[in-house]
Amino acid sequence: MPRGLFITLEGLDGSGKTTQIKRLAAWMRKRGAEPVVTRQPGGTEIGDRIRALLLDSRSAGLAPLAEMALMFADRAQAITEVIEPALAAGKIVLCDRFTDSTEAYQGGGRELGSELVLEMHRLVCGDLKPDLTILLLPSLERSLDRARGRNARDAANEGKDEGRFEQEQDAFYKRVWQKYREIATRDAERIIVIAGDLTIDEIHEQIAEAVAMRLSELKRR
Ligand code: TYD
Repeated sequence: MPRGLFITLEGLDGSGKTTQIKRLAAWMRKRGAEPVVTRQPGGTEIGDRIRALLLDSRSAGLAPLAEMALMFADRAQAITEVIEPALAAGKIVLCDRFTDSTEAYQGGGRELGSELVLEMHRLVCGDLKPDLTILLLPSLERSLDRARGRNARDAANEGKDEGRFEQEQDAFYKRVWQKYREIATRDAERIIVIAGDLTIDEIHEQIAEAVAMRLSELKRR
């Protein structure tokens, strides 16, 4: 059985990843594929508990290294329970965030640096890396506006407390944005950046085109 395909979506808070992952999954289903859709942190029962701890604004005292280790604890669980079994069964896995998020948010945003994150990735995830990553990265200005818009929405939203990251300031998101750009330049073969001021439909078309291309490349191998 040929191994499946591991596709990740990345971007800042409020970049529209969740909408796009749903559209992409629907696009695949129309073509007869049944993708496994998951997200990080979360995506498993244990991962959802780690997610609650990570995103709860009462976790304000969480040390950056503890935060990074929890992201990888969640990832280890997801790899064992969801990602590896699906890839081994030849399925397409669509994952909302993966190690690039840890490099951008903990490495860049929290200033732990890339090296530490990549080292931890090697220890926890071995050589598992996405076959294709779609990075939604509009201009810095627009990205900051959206992250702020999400802050306001979440503040008005009662119920589930998942606001810890959204409470971060512009300087934090600027570092995350810059680290994403750096990663995209370094791993240009793997990462497709979707920038610019595009509509939801336009972004979906660009993503579908990139995925279709990658799928046909793989078939030719
Ligand atoms: P989530 O509500 O899933 O945000 P989004 O819909 O924008 O993906 O929350 C995930 C948050 O966790 C988000 O602010 C990014 C952050 N995060 C990290 O800081 N490091 C990581 O490794 C991952 C996977 C997420």
